Amino acid sequence: MRIVFFINLKILLWDKILVFHMSMLIPGLEPLKTMFPEGIPRNSFIVIAGKSGSGKSVLLAKIVGSVLQLGEPVLYLALDDDPKTVALQLENLKIDVIEYVKKKQFFIVDGYSERIRDRDFKSHISVIAKVNPQNIEHVIETLLGIANEMGLESRGLIAIDSLNEFLCFYKTMDLAEHIKVIRANFSKAKNILTVATLHTSTPQARELLASIEHNVDGVIKAEKIWYTTQHKNKAVLWRAMVKKLKITRHNPDWVYYTFSAGDIEIVHPLQM
Ligand SMILES: Nc1ncnc2c1ncn2[C@@H]1O[C@H](COP(=O)(O)OP(=O)(O)OP(=O)(O)O)[C@@H](O)[C@H]1O
Ligand SMILES: [Mg+2]
Repeated sequence: MRIVFFINLKILLWDKILVFHMSMLIPGLEPLKTMFPEGIPRNSFIVIAGKSGSGKSVLLAKIVGSVLQLGEPVLYLALDDDPKTVALQLENLKIDVIEYVKKKQFFIVDGYSERIRDRDFKSHISVIAKVNPQNIEHVIETLLGIANEMGLESRGLIAIDSLNEFLCFYKTMDLAEHIKVIRANFSKAKNILTVATLHTSTPQARELLASIEHNVDGVIKAEKIWYTTQHKNKAVLWRAMVKKLKITRHNPDWVYYTFSAGDIEIVHPLQM
């Protein structure tokens, strides 16, 4: 099986992606390469969906790290967590956030701190703007302005973690329409890869996924699974699967991974 080859090599995963040609981002290492053997079309809007703890933010972080390593810019819309926590998550996955901020390659748009009463609060050096998720039109305008300033057209990544925050303020069908606007403006008009997470723990979120999955360009499913080891202990691992990808071929199989030395590493279920 193809995957065994990579296990034997014990490759540390997702360190980099390579540009194949202008319209595609090709992952250089696993599991991105396993999941997207022909790369990810740049003009894609991709949703990473799964329950809480299923590894969505980790997968997003690895995509962020890959794009940064390629030398391309990343604009990260932080909605679930404050920017300091986001930066720590990235650093824990061996992404040198401060270095990329210094190179003007990585910026966070802070959609979390609106709840913090201290108006002068600035939680992290990477924050380029603060937005209020109650006003998604303003969020989109702010992202568009910064994307223009950063010269993101036909390069880089917009990362959104997560769409659920908007569900606190918008009805499902209204939010679905706003997501179409984001896809049209960033992925299509500006040819910028946009990847958003969605926790599917609530019926409302599942309804949102059902109403957008035929429109978006790609859907990645993420899951956390418990299993019993040979020594009868309970252990955990994660798996991800590309449910759909427009334009190009993708691997429809589950890719299993775990954490090793602060990074993620592919494992094969038969080896557990
Ligand atoms: N650097 C790391 N080292 C080891 N384990 C980690 C690391 N980062 C994350 N994890 C593990 O991966 C799990 C999944 O994390 P992640 O934040 O990606 O979940 P999620 O799907 O985004 O959840 P939520 O919907 O609640 O945001 C965590 O619960 C944690 O156990
Ligand atoms: Mg998360």
